[in-house]
Amino acid sequence: MSQTIAPDSAPSTTASADPKRDAYWMPFTANRQFKKSPRLLTSADGMYFTDDKGRQVLDGIAGLWCVNAGHNRPRIVEAIQKQAAELDFAPPFQMAHPKAFELAERLVELTPAGLNKAFFTNSGSESVETALKMALAYHRVRGEGSRTRLIGRERGYHGVNFGGISVGGMVANRKMFGTLLSGVDHLRHTHDPARNAYAMGQPLHGAELADDLERMVALHDASTIAAVIVEPIAGSTGVLIPPQGYLQRLREICDKHGILLIFDEVITGFGRTGQPFGAQTFGVTPDLMTVAKGLTNGAVPMGAVFAKQSIYDTFMQGPEHLIEFFHGYTYSAHPLACAAALGTLDTYAEEGLLTRAAEMQTYFAEALHSLKGAPHVIDIRNLGLVGGVELAPLPGEPAKRAFSIFLDCWEQGVLIRTTGDTIAFSPPLIIEKHHIDRLIDTVRGALQRAA
Ligand SMILES: Cc1ncc(COP(=O)(O)O)c(C=O)c1O
Repeated sequence: MSQTIAPDSAPSTTASADPKRDAYWMPFTANRQFKKSPRLLTSADGMYFTDDKGRQVLDGIAGLWCVNAGHNRPRIVEAIQKQAAELDFAPPFQMAHPKAFELAERLVELTPAGLNKAFFTNSGSESVETALKMALAYHRVRGEGSRTRLIGRERGYHGVNFGGISVGGMVANRKMFGTLLSGVDHLRHTHDPARNAYAMGQPLHGAELADDLERMVALHDASTIAAVIVEPIAGSTGVLIPPQGYLQRLREICDKHGILLIFDEVITGFGRTGQPFGAQTFGVTPDLMTVAKGLTNGAVPMGAVFAKQSIYDTFMQGPEHLIEFFHGYTYSAHPLACAAALGTLDTYAEEGLLTRAAEMQTYFAEALHSLKGAPHVIDIRNLGLVGGVELAPLPGEPAKRAFSIFLDCWEQGVLIRTTGDTIAFSPPLIIEKHHIDRLIDTVRGALQRAA
């Protein structure tokens, strides 16, 4: 017999110690564990958070891969404050405000050549949905409506909406949610510790894994495939750096078969890899590129999709008074988000932050790789200011050892992030050498203490 839903009057069986913490259902969080022992951040400045006990906590993950310029940056704060008092909202459908145009122009000066149209969203997940829909509609508008298949990759993360989890390759994010989008297939992931463990930067082996796309063309026929979406660096499944030549190979196969290539640069965008975008670091230009996070330094939710001129032009046909692309959000190009993004771009430009990861990466890489030989470490991966340290899982308890390291570091005043049994580092791009030393030494201590 199916279980009945408990009546609203039934007493809660999960009430937390503090009733003030009952109502908030936290995202991607072990709610019960957290509410027993909350980790609360109350302010932030530069490289540090302050918690509710007044402790300074070194931010080793730029909030959540987004606070690339560090916290509480004056230009961003001021831009948001001014904007809120000047224009709180402007409808984005059939209307606009000047900063939306200004921001788009500023952004396409930074994107790889050719990606010169910007469509605004409010998050990485929305950027992904937007890009997938653009790809499908693009083929249809140009008379190839049979191209409906979308190809993602195992261990990919493209946010949490239905398109994103369909092309994504994280089982926990997919298995609860039914059959997802139909007509989706996945390339194999590129993680190959047997051949590539402890590679510095891009691993040597694995370019041939891009040939999976040829297999999919052979199986489904190119005339049914609209687009391939990959993260240049897969972050959420443990910092997987693309093997040398892999992205180039993927680009070639897409070109050969008329398939659009989408780069999801939600975490690699805005200086993380040493260039403004991963596409530039890896020397491969996609047809569509999704961003969010560092676009506003995390200060106001915002995302964007960059498209090639030819894709935009394809839509610009038919009677001029008709809408060309039936898609958009109430908060697309929200004035506060645009102001925050402009303040962010000013900050990045004034401090050279979009290329600073290239300057810091040698020191960072050497510090990170000094963890080789520390207890439980089985692989280390890095590029720009991104690092991954993979641990041997506790037998029968995946993710538990890494989570205990996270908790230990938090106790020591350092914020890291773990995904599965990998510790991920993505510090603000303003990081200095002494912060790197503290980050790595704290993790080393935690590894030594860990079971
Ligand atoms: C590659 C990638 N795509 C999409 C997303 C989703 O972004 P959001 O959480 O803003 O929806 C993320 C978030 O981490 C991401 O890493």
